[in-house]
Amino acid sequence: MRGAVRRPGQSHEPDDNYGRRMPDVIRIGQLSDTHFLEAGMEPEGAGAYDTSAAFEAVLAHLGDHEHLDLMVVTGDVADHGRAAQYEVAADAFARLSVPVNLCPGNHDFDEPFAGGFPHSNLDVERTLVLGDWTFLFADSNSGQMRVDEEGNRSDLPGETRLHSNGSLGTHEAAWIREASAAATTEHVFVWIHHPPGVTVPLIADADYTSEWTALIGDLPNVRGFGGGHTHLPAEFVFADLPVFVSPSFKNNFDLDAKTWLPPGYRTYEFSADGGITSEVHLVDDERWPRHPLGRAILGLFNGELTYDDLAAIAQRRRDQTS
Ligand SMILES: [Fe+2]
Repeated sequence: MRGAVRRPGQSHEPDDNYGRRMPDVIRIGQLSDTHFLEAGMEPEGAGAYDTSAAFEAVLAHLGDHEHLDLMVVTGDVADHGRAAQYEVAADAFARLSVPVNLCPGNHDFDEPFAGGFPHSNLDVERTLVLGDWTFLFADSNSGQMRVDEEGNRSDLPGETRLHSNGSLGTHEAAWIREASAAATTEHVFVWIHHPPGVTVPLIADADYTSEWTALIGDLPNVRGFGGGHTHLPAEFVFADLPVFVSPSFKNNFDLDAKTWLPPGYRTYEFSADGGITSEVHLVDDERWPRHPLGRAILGLFNGELTYDDLAAIAQRRRDQTS
């Protein structure tokens, strides 16, 4: 375990924010969309996985992970952003044997998220330096939040944003521009819940894509993005940069094979020359079979059905079988 994270700008300049000497290749694991529930609460929604059971399976699959320099969590930590759900999440992440840094998703609300990780290996830093890389932890909900003059973000009263797409807003876009320009390393990588450039109709958002299109030319040292949100593990290219999407713990889908997928995680290697390789690890188990996707879920992703349509179909099916 490490001590406190060193804040950027401190006079002592170690190889990373944790005071460690860094190798040429930085190894990072990524968890995303863990959607933790209160202990003992039933999974919500048709086909949703028991996310605590998924975490146990991922932890077992990770095995000895001391070789990782960092574990990143890219949002939707708690299913409804409730304090008791962050307690379950924090206790789970504290079992990892490496430092963990988190950024929020649209299911995470500012107050419980900011205060939700008191354990010594957990942090919500916005910038971390590891060897030749600067890692930015952006908040893709900022455009829907109130931001004060110091850049502190808070949720509007009554706002839920559980199905919200990404929105940077002017403050977050400016922060990303400034943090990238201030990087003391040659290479920058952005961790963010909503990946830029998604084209799946349910999730694609022209305004969010426009925000990134306007910003990306000002970020010449950014080498790629790591995100979640879609529950569709993938790798694609946006503005000539790789975008890596990590699996979720709540449910995952493969729109090409048209099947459900088990829970999982990603690992990354960041090279001193700016190269990035990443791998998806899915934890196959009889609890999460790769069943064919039904027409209703395909219709949701294709933009032919809304979440309300899907809920009505599920209710009709329950009524027919009861
Ligand atoms: Fe999610």
